[in-house]
Amino acid sequence: MKYIQSKLFEPIPNVNTGKSYRAIRHEIVRKKQINNSNEVHHPTEKITQAKSILNEICGWGDLSILELFAGHGNMTRIYADYGEVLAFEYNKKVYKNLIENTSDLMLVKCENVNSYIEFHKLIALKCKFDVIDLDPYGFPNRFLPDIFLLIKNGILFLTMPKPYVNILNGITATHLTAYFGMHNPPLEIIIEKIVTYGLCHWRKVELISCIDCGSIWRMAFNVQRVKATEYTGVRNR
Ligand SMILES: C[S@@+](CC[C@H](N)C(=O)[O-])C[C@H]1O[C@@H](n2cnc3c(N)ncnc32)[C@H](O)[C@@H]1O
Repeated sequence: MKYIQSKLFEPIPNVNTGKSYRAIRHEIVRKKQINNSNEVHHPTEKITQAKSILNEICGWGDLSILELFAGHGNMTRIYADYGEVLAFEYNKKVYKNLIENTSDLMLVKCENVNSYIEFHKLIALKCKFDVIDLDPYGFPNRFLPDIFLLIKNGILFLTMPKPYVNILNGITATHLTAYFGMHNPPLEIIIEKIVTYGLCHWRKVELISCIDCGSIWRMAFNVQRVKATEYTGVRNR
C-alpha cells in the first residue's frame, strides 16, 4: 500500500527536459508570482468580493484589518478605505514595493515579518481584528484553528488552492490528510472542516461567499464568538 501511495505522487519526467511536469509547471507559476501577474493574484475577483462584503458591514465604523500576506498591496489599498490595516509581507523585495505602493495611506502599517510566526505573537498579545485576510501562495492549513482566536466577530477572507488542480507531492498530501481527513478534499469537506475548526475556539463560522478563481477558491467567512453553554445548550454546574 505504501509503495502504491508513493508511486501515486511520483513526478513523471518530461522526455525532452528531464524535468517532471510538476517541476516545469511550478517554475512557470513561480515566475508569474514573482512578476505579480494578475493571473495568479486574481485582483478583480478578490476586490469585488471584499468590497461587496465590507460595504455591508462598514456600519460598524472603523474596522481593524489584518492582512497576513499583503504582497504588493493590491488588497491593502482597498482595505485602507475601511479602517486601519496591519499588513505583513516576508519577501524583502516585495515588501519594498508594498511600502512604496501604500506610502500615501495614513492608516496602513506594514511589517516585514514571517506571518507563520507573527500570528502566534498577535495571539499572545490577545489582539483582535474585525477582518483578517489569509492569502498565502500555498495552503492556509497551518493557521487553523488558531486564526479564529484573532477574531471575535468579523470576517475571514481565505484563499484555498484547489487540491485536485495542484499535483500533490507526498508531503502536501499528508498535510492535507492531517487537516482535512483526506489527501484530496473536495470543497464541501474543506468548508465543513473550516467551520469545525472555528468551533475549536467557540466561533460560529459561516461561509458567506466563495469565488472560483481557476486554481484557487477565494472564500469569505462570517465569524462570531459564541458562548459554549448557549451554543451547545449544555449548562455548566
Ligand atoms: C498570494 S501573494 C499575496 C497577494 C496579495 N494578497 C494580493 O492580493 O495582492 C502571497 C504573498 O505572501 C508572501 N509571503 C510568503 N511567505 C510569507 C510569510 N511566511 N509571511 C508573510 N508573507 C509571506 C509572498 O512573498 C507573497 O507576496
